[in-house]
Amino acid sequence: MTQDNYASSYADFNEVLQLRLSRRGLLKGSLASASATYLGAGSLAASGSTAVHAAGSGLRLNFKAVAKSLDDLVLLPAGYSYKILLATGDPIAPGIPAYSNTGVDNAASFVRRAGDHNDGMHFFGMNAKDRWDPKSSDRALLCVNHEAITSAFLHPNGQTIVDGKRTVDSEVLKEMLAHGASVVEVRREAGSYSLQKDSPRNRRITTLTEIEISGPASGSPLMITRYSPTGKRTRGTLGNCANGHTPWGTYLTCEENWAGYFRRPAADDAKRDAKQLAALKRYGIAGKGRELWATASPDTNDQRFGRWDASITGNSSDGSDDYRNAPNTFGWVVEIDPFNADAAPKKRTALGRFAHEGAWPGPVRAGQPLVWYMGCDARGEYIYKFVSAKPWDPADAAKGIAAGDKYMDDGRLYAARFNADGSGDWLELSLGKNGIDSNNTIYAFASQADVLVHARLAADAAGATKMDRPEWGAVNPRNGEVYMTLTYNPSRDFNKLDAANPRFYRDPKAGKQGQGNVNGHIIRWAERDGQPGATHFSWDIFLFASRDNADRDTVNISGLEASNDFSSPDGLWFSQSGLLWIETDDHAYRDASNCMLLAAIPGAVGDGGQREVISRESSQQKNIRTHVGAEATPETLRRFLVGPVDCEITGLAESPDGKALFVNIQHPGETTNDKGFDIAQPGTYLSHWPAGGNTRPRSATIVITRDDGGMIGADVV
Ligand code: FEO
Ligand code: CA
Ligand code: CA
Ligand code: CA
Repeated sequence: MTQDNYASSYADFNEVLQLRLSRRGLLKGSLASASATYLGAGSLAASGSTAVHAAGSGLRLNFKAVAKSLDDLVLLPAGYSYKILLATGDPIAPGIPAYSNTGVDNAASFVRRAGDHNDGMHFFGMNAKDRWDPKSSDRALLCVNHEAITSAFLHPNGQTIVDGKRTVDSEVLKEMLAHGASVVEVRREAGSYSLQKDSPRNRRITTLTEIEISGPASGSPLMITRYSPTGKRTRGTLGNCANGHTPWGTYLTCEENWAGYFRRPAADDAKRDAKQLAALKRYGIAGKGRELWATASPDTNDQRFGRWDASITGNSSDGSDDYRNAPNTFGWVVEIDPFNADAAPKKRTALGRFAHEGAWPGPVRAGQPLVWYMGCDARGEYIYKFVSAKPWDPADAAKGIAAGDKYMDDGRLYAARFNADGSGDWLELSLGKNGIDSNNTIYAFASQADVLVHARLAADAAGATKMDRPEWGAVNPRNGEVYMTLTYNPSRDFNKLDAANPRFYRDPKAGKQGQGNVNGHIIRWAERDGQPGATHFSWDIFLFASRDNADRDTVNISGLEASNDFSSPDGLWFSQSGLLWIETDDHAYRDASNCMLLAAIPGAVGDGGQREVISRESSQQKNIRTHVGAEATPETLRRFLVGPVDCEITGLAESPDGKALFVNIQHPGETTNDKGFDIAQPGTYLSHWPAGGNTRPRSATIVITRDDGGMIGADVV
């Protein structure tokens, strides 16, 4: 989005909605609440506070809540419809046959088919000259991540594994090509979007695509592989979970669950020094390797399979004859220029290496640094922020991925510390700062490249706050406040609760996930003085997810009801109107409903107050004082969509006019493989969505429109 567009939409909404608050006023509100005793939900508003509420938000939800459901369907409110745009295996080039969905489709053809497990995505409007136009809703390039695979359904009879080895190379090739991202052209005609299957702009980025390593870790000894002895390139992107975008019209695809794909047998430990072992352990590089890719036929000249073996197999001292360093080339934010297929994607190493969920841009203002907010999605991991060294020059909006070199290769990385008093600090992760140096006894940092490759260890050293699994972030276009989901955490220790992660409880109906922070919550923060590059912020917990009938002191703190209760928030997206969308990837409330999408009209940090959250374990009780947002009501939070069986609802993109919402239905029937499954017996498939009947389930991007052509979710009133 251009500076103009950002700035004008920001100004328009401020004007239309007559926001009564300056940034300074908001900050005052949150500080006032932080110093007050428990005021009760909404009491700041009731007492005449200037906090923004649904009543004064200028937004009204325009649909009736969808009931919780266990049906194998996508359910929407009356007056809304959806259409499938891009499902697993769909052809995206001329001459590629329709997907059989029986497992027999040619493996190599996947480089011209949609991958599996559609996840994060973004809508890049396109003009008649095939250039980026952030105001175009009728024609666009849609970038879609393909995070992982449901392997059972990709082959005729699932994966062929003999003696623990993959023996059919074409199966492995198909799986490798089903990961990554798609760039596809979509058009709207007579109000209906369709995929432009034969567009020359369609393309795939996969685990085989050559990618440049950019920024401070490029060329580092840590990046040397047989594929790139200079450490400046790597092959492929993997675990493409959520996403982000830039003010110059490029896509950011973020590498989350990449670590598990590497094979590294225990015997490799003996070849490693203590520092390497600390790093390998912190990132979980050990074991057989998910999908067993490294066991396919011995390495070929194009190094497709052997590179998934991260053990030391060569004789070199620097790793230039094997793939011991290959895991260091994954775990990054990867920039793709949808409008320039000739430009190699770039891994932006200044943004750190971890289990990247996504990278969400903060407010874009001329003359100020650009920022991206990020989370590391694993239990007890951190929230991060990158701040560019260079101030934003709107003239760079037309420069495509070249602008990324200027803003994303040079800057500071921070990790968040949430203090009990409602304040927060961004801790700089730079060599020589915050205990990040060569004297560190856990990990002796040698260079800034070392810090970025091992950002988790740097954040450990700095003392960042261990969160209940950060998933998506979203930035409120009205006021720049940042929201981030903390999806759930069965490992949250009763003795290590803190104000930002205050819940521990048990829910016997939730199975293995039924302890700790069972249902997750959404935290939010306001940067000091509204400056995205600030190093201090104030925060509160916007919403606690819960069953509607759970205890109000310990679990259902936000007052959820049948029309808006949910569990395990994951995806987040702000419409330009200021409407917040919340998606779930749930493992704890599945007895009551499949995963869902809700719409929320948020207030602002400090619109609730302080309160105590009570946690009990055996005979012990802990009262954690924290900062919570105003309680939800059916007017401010409502269920909009429920998905089919065993799916995750993820990925959100919107047409610039707000009249189409793109959503991903990921892995329906995913756990089929675990439960008495027989590929020859369709009755054992947990889902048949979308085609129904006896078909195999598929992930898919759907596009939702309102039958009367209006705005999705909420009207501006
Ligand atoms: Fe891929 Fe953290 O979700
Ligand atoms: Ca996610
Ligand atoms: Ca998730
Ligand atoms: Ca997923």
